[in-house]
Amino acid sequence: MDYIQTWIETFCSFCTWCWARFCWLVDGKKWFRAHLTSAFAIYCGLLWTGLSVVMPDPPTGSLAWVHGAAKIRKLALPLSVLVGITAISGAFVAGNDAGHAYNTFPKMGDAWIPDDIFSMEPLFCNFFENTSTVQLDHRILATATLLSISGLWWTTRKLDMHPAVRSLIGSTMGMAALQVTLGITTLLSYVPVSLGTAHQAGALTLLTFIILLTHTVRRPSPMLLKSLGSIPRAP
Ligand code: HEM
Repeated sequence: MDYIQTWIETFCSFCTWCWARFCWLVDGKKWFRAHLTSAFAIYCGLLWTGLSVVMPDPPTGSLAWVHGAAKIRKLALPLSVLVGITAISGAFVAGNDAGHAYNTFPKMGDAWIPDDIFSMEPLFCNFFENTSTVQLDHRILATATLLSISGLWWTTRKLDMHPAVRSLIGSTMGMAALQVTLGITTLLSYVPVSLGTAHQAGALTLLTFIILLTHTVRRPSPMLLKSLGSIPRAP
């Protein structure tokens, strides 16, 4: 009898597991987020590879510019990761249709932080499924992205650097400001398709700028560094 009961219990657990997997697979939201994330990841990989083909060595010019690029590199790398995470969090906003809730800024409704951000069980589900939490995360990450890029611009404004790097930092800063403005406008106007699409394109443009910057300030080869010793400083 015990044997049959154990068998039935095991069979039921297996069916429950299969049903959960099936529901997970047919949930369009998850596919949307996975699709957008992998599309962005493939794009970043292709862009980096293409840039390495057309620009095998980073632009240098003088040793002072190489030192300037090394300082910027330390900030540009974590910043690219932050822009990437913010973009992925945007996919969660779109996937959960969270842009149709809390259409106010900077407050979410009447509160800075909604009461129900941890209302789902288990806790980690809130970060993926809860409308309030995914929107709050996206706001925090977007603000952190804008502040960090502004910080990069501010701390490097007096640094001796290649003109291409300077204009890339300026463009990234401008694009981040535009993207945040676009995000807020999208939210306040209840996500019309035109603004939603422009916001998605803006995320890709911002990602492009930050990858361009990171690629441009990458470490030069030892051969190039050696040859720089004999090159007079560019004006
Ligand atoms: C650096 C800043 C930002 C980046 C990189 C970014 C990125 C993204 C991305 C990639 C999406 C998914 C778009 C889609 O698939 O349709 C998205 C959606 C969204 N974002 Fe942002 N975002 C930023 C700032 C903001 C800000 C400040 C807000 C407003 C508070 C905002 C509000 C929204 C909304 C409402 C959606 C959903 C749009 C829809 O349903 O189509 N975003 N964001």
